[in-house]
Amino acid sequence: MPASRPLLAANWKMNPLSAGAAAELAGDVLPAAREHAGRVEVALFPPFPWLLPVARVLEGTEVGLGAQDCHWEASGAFTGEVSAAMLAGWCDWVIVGHSERRIHFGEDDGMVARKAAAGLAAGLDVILCVGEREEEFVDGRTGAVIERQLRAGLEGVEARGGRRLVVAYEPVWAIGTGRNADPDHAGRTIGLIRRTLVDVLGRPGQEVRVLYGGSVNAANVASYVGLPTCDGCLVGGASLKAAEFSRMIAEVAALPRAVAAGEEAE
Ligand code: 13P
Repeated sequence: MPASRPLLAANWKMNPLSAGAAAELAGDVLPAAREHAGRVEVALFPPFPWLLPVARVLEGTEVGLGAQDCHWEASGAFTGEVSAAMLAGWCDWVIVGHSERRIHFGEDDGMVARKAAAGLAAGLDVILCVGEREEEFVDGRTGAVIERQLRAGLEGVEARGGRRLVVAYEPVWAIGTGRNADPDHAGRTIGLIRRTLVDVLGRPGQEVRVLYGGSVNAANVASYVGLPTCDGCLVGGASLKAAEFSRMIAEVAALPRAVAAGEEAE
């Protein structure tokens, strides 16, 4: 059963180009986020230098703020890096293991695991990304790849996890290509992720939220968040357009959701 309030996480990647544009984008998303705050959780992930200007815009709102990466050590001689401990004072979230970091910056499963553990230890909510490459998808190896990445990424986080851990299934071939995954494929893979989570963490998989990401937009977001096992989406390109992202928030808010224990039915 998915979480009663789905999550829409906006990964801005290396965009936009200025602090002013970042603050403006955040400000333009706020009306929709505020309007639907009771039904949709929204979090924005700007590049490091725009975290502070965006934090100022989000102050006093329910919109979460996160970084796109972190280092696992708290401090030290790691030129160019930013630690989870440094982010913890003013971010709610951190993304680890995004495929762009794995592919372009050589991050392996072990590094991703250390980042996930560091993020959780620092008190951040962690989005751990997994996803198969095109050739792996074509060869029918999606399940094996996802299970390996997930088991490795969860090394050392068993005792923590819970509500503060989110897994994002992002097939590499669907990212930025306009080729969003068939919702059936996404649903099956999310099911596998949930079963693996139960196996590794030894507790009900629904405690950890699972998202889909890869060419999600206002036209297709409902086909993922409407899946019985999907708790939301990690959005790239479409989150850079305030009007489009606001439509996505409204689309998700309009979906019927499970009523969690203790919550009133509307
Ligand atoms: P797109 O939505 O641009 O395909 O990117 C997805 C993604 O990588 C989010 O982390």
